[in-house]
Parts: sequence; C-alpha cells; structure tokens
Amino acid sequence: MAEFATLQDIVLAAKRKLSPTNWDYLTGGSDSETTLKRNRAALDSIAFRPRVFRDVSQADASREYLGQKFSIPVFMAPIGSLTLLDPGGALSVAKAAAKSEVMSMVSTVSMPGIEATAEGSDGYLVFQLYVRGDMDWVDGIMDRVKAADYKAVTITVDTASYSRRERDLVNRLVKREPGKWAALGGIDPLRERRHQAKLTWDLIARIKDRTRLPVIVKGIATPEDAKLALEHGADVIYVSNHGGRQLDHGLGSIQVLPEIVEAVGGKAEVFVDGGFVRGSDVLKAIALGATAVGIAKLQGWALAAGGEAGLARAIELIHEEIRVCMMLLGITSLDELDGSYLHPTQPVTPPHPLSAFPLFMEKHKW
Ligand SMILES: Cc1cc2nc3c(=O)[nH]c(=O)nc-3n(C[C@H](O)[C@H](O)[C@H](O)COP(=O)(O)O)c2cc1C
Repeated sequence: MAEFATLQDIVLAAKRKLSPTNWDYLTGGSDSETTLKRNRAALDSIAFRPRVFRDVSQADASREYLGQKFSIPVFMAPIGSLTLLDPGGALSVAKAAAKSEVMSMVSTVSMPGIEATAEGSDGYLVFQLYVRGDMDWVDGIMDRVKAADYKAVTITVDTASYSRRERDLVNRLVKREPGKWAALGGIDPLRERRHQAKLTWDLIARIKDRTRLPVIVKGIATPEDAKLALEHGADVIYVSNHGGRQLDHGLGSIQVLPEIVEAVGGKAEVFVDGGFVRGSDVLKAIALGATAVGIAKLQGWALAAGGEAGLARAIELIHEEIRVCMMLLGITSLDELDGSYLHPTQPVTPPHPLSAFPLFMEKHKW
C-alpha cells in the first residue's frame, strides 16, 4: 500500500472504486447537510500557535485510555454497512486497527457479526449497541458481547429516529448484506429500528450491570446531557453528531467540545468525532481536552480504496501527520497540548466533507 503516498491518494482511489450510490451512502449527511459541513467549518475555524526551538526529536503520539496504551489518539468509529465498502466488513477494520495498535468500535449492524469479528482479530474491540429488540433482546446481545471478550460497550444515543438521508433516498439505496438478520438473532434490523425511540438514561445501568464493562455514551452534544450521562454512570462521554448524518442544523462537534469537557470536569474520558480527517484536526481536539478522536468517513474511504491494507496505510499516514504536526507545534507529548496552542480564525475554503483534500476538490465537486 506504499502506492498511497498521502491521504489524498486514498480518497481519490475510493472515489474511483465506489459506485456513486455507495459513495453517497458513505460521504453524505442528512437533510440539507448543514451539520455535515459545520463539522468541517468548525475545525477550519481553529488555527495553531506554534512554539519553536525546543528539542522535539522524541515526539511520541501514543495515548492511554480505557486502561490501554494506543499508538495514536485515534480510533475507528462504528460504521454499519461496512460490506458495501469492503467484503471483509468489520473484520477488515478490526485487523487493520489491531496491526496499527488503535481501538476499533464494532457496530451492531456491521457484518460479519459479533463473534466472527472478535474471533478473527486480536485487537482492542468495543461493541457499539443499536437497540433492535426488547430488553430481553438487549440482554442476549450483551451476553454475546461479554462472551466474545469485547472490552467496553458504546451506546449510541443520537438515533431516536433514523434520519432522512436524501442522497440515499434519491438513489433508492437498498443495503444488501447477506447474513445480517441471522447475525442479529433472526430479526430485520431496518424494521426493528423503532425500539431505539423508547430508550432512556436507565439503559446505561442495565448494560453495566449485565456486562460489568465500561460504558461509552456516543452522541452527546450538550453539557446538560454530558452531566446526565455521568450521573447515570457513563465511563466515557463521546461527543458526536453522527458525522452530520442524524440531526441537521447542529453545531460542529469541535465547537461543542470545550463546554462539554468543562462540564465533565475530568470525571470521565471524552471522545469526539465529526469531520476529523487529518493529523492536525486530531491535535486540535486533544488541545481542547479530548482524550481520543474517532474517524468514520476516512476509515470508509481507506477501506474502499484498499481493504484492510488500505486502512492500515491510512492509519500510518495519519500517525505520520500527527508526528510532524507535533514537532512543528514544539511538543513531544500529547499531554503538553492545551488551548494556548490554538487561535480562532476564518476558514480558507467553503466547508465540505472533503475540503481538507484540495487535490480531490480540484478534480471532483462531490
Ligand atoms: C457510513 C457510516 C455508517 C455509520 N454507521 C454507524 C453505526 O452503525 N453506529 C454508530 O454509532 N455510528 C455510525 N456512524 C457514525 C460514525 O460512527 C461517526 O459518529 C461519524 O461518522 C463521525 O464523523 P466522520 O464520518 O466525519 O468521521 C456511521 C457513519 C458513517 C459514515
């Protein structure tokens, strides 16, 4: 995969390889795609204040969280229909993540399913729960997750209703993924989405009691909900707007990060995702108090471009970008980063999910 010299090569290759419908599924957002674009606009509204003439020859991008040391503060955010991008699906992601020493979150609705993904890889896996049945169904899934040795459970809370993703509606997208019903205990995951609407904060305690695993609450967008999540036992607050795929007209993730970090007050680790595609993006979040950053679209593009090896190469490239950026900022450890390294600014390009890749933008509009 040395054929990919930059992340831009990877995104260009993904565009060549994916059908227009699957490209839209991966890259698009909901409704008018305002939240999708705000994720980028917010990242591009932060500039760096570098410090110089410090010995940075030993810059180290590793970070410890959930009790484990990882090579970089970046993890694989959960993606549902991964087999539309690569036949190996979640297993390809888990293997690339293990090789690269980063964490991978496995979606309830990703194939080849809970056990096959865990058995086929030896990395640090977290299970991401979508509720597609009653509480007995949830208990059954949790027992399987525990037995398969997942290290934590992520509950996604920003999906009380599936959103209107108009590119998928216009394209008449039908996700054909053989074996998915069986992997979920014989249910139709699309029809059973309705269960998600009934959920309340009590679910956190139920999952913790059942599994004795740390619980990550994904989809927090306000300090009010961050505090409630903590009161109900969340171990990690995961700031996310689902990459602009759920509620439209939200704020950019990194815009809301500082007030949520303040509300959490060091009582839990804070993850964030939404528009992160560059090493510099990741360091902005760390400077604002995030523990780690999730990537989904970049993960999907890399998987589509080159399967497991393509994703491992993308993680290697983002690691390299982080290392270079750390040295140019004058730091050797992520713990040195704080708000003094940042300054508000104006974006230099109109926001777009790919606006961090100028070579892509020169060639394609979408
Ligand atoms: C194709 C695709 C499928 C996704 N599927 C899930 C999912 O099954 N569960 C979930 O919690 N989030 C899902 N997400 C949201 C991501 O986990 C993540 O929150 C978001 O996409 C991060 O923004 P980014 O794509 O800009 O990196 C999905 C995102 C994409 C792009």
